[in-house]
Amino acid sequence: PLVPYLLGQKHPSGTRLTDFQKCVRTNDIDEVGDNRHLTYFEMLGNWSLGDYFKEESIKMSFEFLTKELGIPVEKLSVTVFEGDEDCPKDEFSAKCWKDAGILDGHIYYYGKDDNWWIAGETGPCGPDTEMFYDTGKPACSENCQPSCDCGKYVEIWNNVFMEYFKDENGYSKLKQQNVDTGLGLERMTMLLQGKETPFDTELFKPVMDKLSELQKVDIIESRRIVAEHLRSSMMIIADGGRPSNLDRGYVLRRLIRRMIRQMNKLQIDLNELSTLIDINVDNLKEMYPELEQNRETIKQ
Ligand code: GLY
Repeated sequence: PLVPYLLGQKHPSGTRLTDFQKCVRTNDIDEVGDNRHLTYFEMLGNWSLGDYFKEESIKMSFEFLTKELGIPVEKLSVTVFEGDEDCPKDEFSAKCWKDAGILDGHIYYYGKDDNWWIAGETGPCGPDTEMFYDTGKPACSENCQPSCDCGKYVEIWNNVFMEYFKDENGYSKLKQQNVDTGLGLERMTMLLQGKETPFDTELFKPVMDKLSELQKVDIIESRRIVAEHLRSSMMIIADGGRPSNLDRGYVLRRLIRRMIRQMNKLQIDLNELSTLIDINVDNLKEMYPELEQNRETIKQ
């Protein structure tokens, strides 16, 4: 919805916005069950529509993480774009992080796979800088670093510096320089509550406890997948999505199918879904009243 404003149209609320948005993304669906991946998450963000750019964005992010949230600086690492034929190495962002207070040896350069953001195949895009939290787990190897998938480092926030536009002919510069950030509420909750996974926070604990009580076989990954896909499915249905074999409907159908497969592994009767849905609605309805309004539809 913000694309026209990234391209230069005036937004009615001005050039600096903050928001929170319900997000379903299934690109990492196979990772769900580990210590950090989710298909549904709430993304907290801030936007500069041709207003502040890298320097201020990084300064404000550092201040928010270390002062407002009180995260010790030694726990933080950041990544920046290493550069390629489309866009130069982002040494300026690295300098901004260093000036802000990120420690030596905690700044990493990666390529487009890690440090580039675009929604879809074409449109506004640009290099991003990502912030990682060190969980304190032992390093998996001498080369363990934020890009590693061993779970030692958890990405908590990214700032996308959107100053390019990609179309079928390649990249061009946008009229204005924008910032689009995304910070995951569930991961931040886990970090601030000192928990090892989002499933140990109050967002998931009631349903996880019930799954432990109901299971006849003890498989932690399966419990996490059921809890996660159930919440994701409930959010989609409450927003009007319905299972089908196409597009958005297929995302929901796939989540439900995978959830059921894991319930079977745990040997939990599918009739228990009604109870699990009630637990989630009661736990989350203050934040998401649409779940309460759609309780029966979701069960159906
Ligand atoms: N707002 C940037 C992102 O989706 O992560």
